[in-house]
Amino acid sequence: MKVLVYDETGRAVQLDEPASKTLMQAIRDAGLHIVAQCGGSASCGTCHVYVEDAWCVKLEPPSEIEAAMLDFVEARSENSRLSCQIELSEDIDGLTVTLAPGSSLRNSAES
Ligand code: FES
Repeated sequence: MKVLVYDETGRAVQLDEPASKTLMQAIRDAGLHIVAQCGGSASCGTCHVYVEDAWCVKLEPPSEIEAAMLDFVEARSENSRLSCQIELSEDIDGLTVTLAPGSSLRNSAES
């Protein structure tokens, strides 16, 4: 399945991943600069992404744990999600997201 990720520079990167991992794992495996400090347990908020509007309704809504963590992320938006909580599946082939500012290793190093 394919996922389009806009990185911290605005560059579009097409991922072609099996539907057996989380979005955070796919982004990390592609070598993009994502912090994802807690490794996927929804406890750090540094895998924050913005989901393109058309895809928001196609994803499962955030769990209580994810929603609670999203309250603490930098630059939260209505389309904010934790990429470690999004399981890739063929149902969301073509998903498009943008790395949020607090999730970029490059931005973190600059701040
Ligand atoms: S990796 Fe920490 S919340 Fe997703």
